Amino acid sequence: MDFDALLAADARIEPRDRMPDGYRRTLIRQIAQHAHSEIIGMQPEGDWITRAPSLRRKAILLAKVQDEAGHGLYLYSAAETLGVDRADLLDLLHSGRQRYSSIFNYPALGWADVGTIGWLVDGAAIVNQVPICRCSYGPYARAMVRICKEESFHQRQGFELLLTLAHGTAGQRAMAQDAVDRWWWPSLMMFGPPDEESPNTAQSMAWGIKRHSNDELRQRFVDMTVPQAEVLGLTLPDRDLSFDGEHWRYGEIDWAEFRAVLRGDGPCNAERIARRRAAHDDGAWVREAADAYAAKGVA
Ligand code: 3HC
Repeated sequence: MDFDALLAADARIEPRDRMPDGYRRTLIRQIAQHAHSEIIGMQPEGDWITRAPSLRRKAILLAKVQDEAGHGLYLYSAAETLGVDRADLLDLLHSGRQRYSSIFNYPALGWADVGTIGWLVDGAAIVNQVPICRCSYGPYARAMVRICKEESFHQRQGFELLLTLAHGTAGQRAMAQDAVDRWWWPSLMMFGPPDEESPNTAQSMAWGIKRHSNDELRQRFVDMTVPQAEVLGLTLPDRDLSFDGEHWRYGEIDWAEFRAVLRGDGPCNAERIARRRAAHDDGAWVREAADAYAAKGVA
């Protein structure tokens, strides 16, 4: 079947199928940026592995950060089915010509941030990524199935960590509330600009890459999260939050802040890329050894 017939039948487009250049370009952009987000996302929580308050918490956090590296691997592999090379994608990331999620340009200042990232950031990721399991491009959709299962563990462990703090001492409750105050609005920004300012959504939805708009998924996340905050006994930093019988309406998002972070002026942009480049350079010998071994095998 040709591309349009496959789309019309809501069938999967596979690497060997003919596809419009724009479709291929959009997928490479989105999948690469998704992969970059996963590996950059290891930094804020990775800093807390050595400072986890117990062996159990350390083991959970180790597993989560390791999962994120694996998500990056699946996604770079999915991107490579479109004819690009992960080394080139990493060059684009390191040179600032490809993005990663705005959310990872905020600092994880305390242990409660680890729980809040799991609860809010991975919670938002699940809302954004479950529909991608039905994406029209086969390799991306299939990569998402396993990623979403692991994200569910990430969200649950974060919620449970926060529940412990929120029902702990006054100091622990204050730490949890401070982290939620700092991560709530950047988590809403994760879903992208408002629909009317999104240059990509309409075409991505026509191509079955996006199944819902940015605002639809953002609203779904807010509706899911407000009741959870009540269970935690924590307040969300939005005085305009109100239930209209169907949805939790939220206040104005600071889109100037979002645009500043995308421009590179977020709290941690420079640090995240510097550490990413350093890790890439430190790992050069592993890549060279693997290439040499592979070449030996071929000779
Ligand atoms: N951070 C950085 N850039 C963003 C962004 C964000 N939160 N939201 C939008 N943008 C960028 C887009 O990349 C686009 O710029 P570009 O054309 O130069 O690439 C521009 O802003 C306009 O936004 P659009 O909404 O028109 O762009 P998209 O159609 O690509 O939608 C998206 C943005 C909703 C993030 C979409 O790309 C998407 O769903 N991506 C897949 C999921 C993903 O990447 N999630 C990142 C979170 S990381 C994560 O989940 C890890 C987990 O372990 C926590």
